[in-house]
Amino acid sequence: MSKILVVDDERSVLGAFKDLLGGSHEVATTRKAEEALKILEDGPCDLVVMDICLVGMDGMQALRRIKQQDPMLPVIVMTGHGTMQTAIEATKLGAFDYHLKPFEPAEMLAAIDKALESTRLARGRVMLDPEVPDVGSGDAIVGRSACMQQVYKAIGRVAATDATVLIRGESGTGKELVARAIHQNSERAEKPLIVVNCVAIPDTLLESELFGHERGAFTGAVARKIGKFELAGGGTLLLDEIGDVSLGIQAKILRVLQEHCFERLGGNETIPVDLRILAATNRNLEKAISEGTFREDLYHRLNVVTIRIPPLVERRDDIPRLVDYFLDRYSRELKIDKPLVSQDAMARLTAFDWPGNVRQLAHCIQRALIFTRGYPIQATDLPLQDEATGEPSVDGDSIRQALSEIVRRYLVVYTGERAHEQLIDQVEEIIICEALDRARGNQTHAARLLGLPRPTLHAKMQKHGLDAKGNTQNS
Ligand SMILES: Nc1ncnc2c1ncn2[C@@H]1O[C@H](COP(=O)(O)OP(=O)(O)OP(=O)(O)O)[C@@H](O)[C@H]1O
Ligand SMILES: [Mg+2]
Repeated sequence: MSKILVVDDERSVLGAFKDLLGGSHEVATTRKAEEALKILEDGPCDLVVMDICLVGMDGMQALRRIKQQDPMLPVIVMTGHGTMQTAIEATKLGAFDYHLKPFEPAEMLAAIDKALESTRLARGRVMLDPEVPDVGSGDAIVGRSACMQQVYKAIGRVAATDATVLIRGESGTGKELVARAIHQNSERAEKPLIVVNCVAIPDTLLESELFGHERGAFTGAVARKIGKFELAGGGTLLLDEIGDVSLGIQAKILRVLQEHCFERLGGNETIPVDLRILAATNRNLEKAISEGTFREDLYHRLNVVTIRIPPLVERRDDIPRLVDYFLDRYSRELKIDKPLVSQDAMARLTAFDWPGNVRQLAHCIQRALIFTRGYPIQATDLPLQDEATGEPSVDGDSIRQALSEIVRRYLVVYTGERAHEQLIDQVEEIIICEALDRARGNQTHAARLLGLPRPTLHAKMQKHGLDAKGNTQNS
C-alpha cells in the first residue's frame, strides 16, 4: 500500500480521489500547499497529486519546495483548462506528469500507477552482490561468477560517465536491473530514471510517447503531451527492447543521439535534451542489421559501450547463491520460515538449463515455496518445465501428484473447522478437471460422467473459476 498525498482546494475533488484510491492506497488530503509541505515533513509519501492553482501559496511554489525537499518524490500536477503553459513550467520543475481537469478516472489511475512504479524504480536501490542481501531495502544483482564480476566492473566503469550503454542478454538475465544500477551509481541518480518498453507500445503511440505531441498534431491529440525524452530531463532514459523498434522511429532516436534535440509531433519548437540514454535488447542486432530491420548507424551510436549479461547456463556456479537469495526474499514475503533445500533438489536446480534465465529460477523458487510451505524442498517439488514439450519434466501420475500436494497442504496449512471443507473443495476441483479433460471440454458429457445435472456442473466450474478445458481462469 502506497501513501499518496492529494492537494486541491476543491473539497469535491479531494473526496473523488479518496473514493478512487482509498481501497488500495493510503490517501492523505489537504486544501492548502503550506499544509501539504507540513504533511511531507512529518512522514514519507510515495506520490503527490496536486492542483497547480491553489489559494495561499501557489502550487508552483509548493512544487519547487517539494522538489527541494525530496527530488525523487513524483508529483502529478493537475490544471484547469487554459493554463497549459503552467503545466509545461511544472514539468520543467520536475513534475512527473500533468493532467487537464476534468480527467478520466482510468487515465488518472494509469498515471498514478506509472508514477508509483517510478518511485519504486528510483528508490529501490540495486545492490551489487552484497554479502548478506538486505531483502527489505531493494533489489540485488546476485552472482559471483567470473562473468558477473565483469558485469559489475563494467557498471562501475560506465556509471560515472554519460556514455550511451547497450545492455544485451537473453530474456530474464537482469538487463533492467543493470540499467537501474548504472543510473543509481551515476551523477544523475537524483534525477528520474524513465523506462520505455518499446515493444509494449504500438508504433504510432510510441512516437508520441517518446517525443510528445502538440495539441492537434493528429486526430485525438486534444492537448499537448510531454514525451519521455523531455520527462527524463537531467536523468536517464532506458529504451527497453530497442531491437523491436521500427525503422522510422529508429531514425528519430538516432537524431536525438546525434544532435541532442528533437521536436514534439506537430511542433516547430526544437527542444534540447540533457539526458543519458541506456538501451536494452535480447535481439541479435547484427543479424537484424544484415536483414535490414535495424539501422547500422543507430547500432554504432548505441553501442558506445556494451554490457553483455551471460545466460544463466553459462554461470551455473551462481545458481546456489541465487536460490538462497530468492528463498530469503520470498519466504519473507510469504511469511513462511525459510526452508532447507535437499541435495537432490539443489542438484536439479544447478543442472537445469533455465531457458527463461534468472526470472524463471525466481518463479520456480517462489512456486516451490508456496507448494511446500516451509518444509524442505525436494527435487519433485520443483516446477521445472521442459520448454520444448511444455510438459513438466518430473515423471509421474499427475492425479497422484496433485492429490499428494493437497494432502501435504492440508496437513501443513489447515487445522480446525474449515479444513475439511477446503480439502473437499480441492479434491472436487481436481475431479471436475479430470472429467472435463476426459470429455474433451464437452460439459454435457462431463456432467454425465460425474453424475451431476449440467447446471450444477456449470455452477461448480464457476465456483472454482474453471473454463471448459479445466484451466483456472484469471479472476
Ligand atoms: N543476478 C540477479 N540477481 C537477482 N535477481 C535477478 C538477477 N537477474 C535477474 N534477476 C531478477 O529476475 C527478473 C528479471 O530481471 P530483468 O527484468 O532485469 O530481466 P531482463 O533481462 O530485463 O528481461 P527481459 O528481456 O525479459 O525484459 C527480475 O525480477 C530481477 O529482479
Ligand atoms: Mg527487461
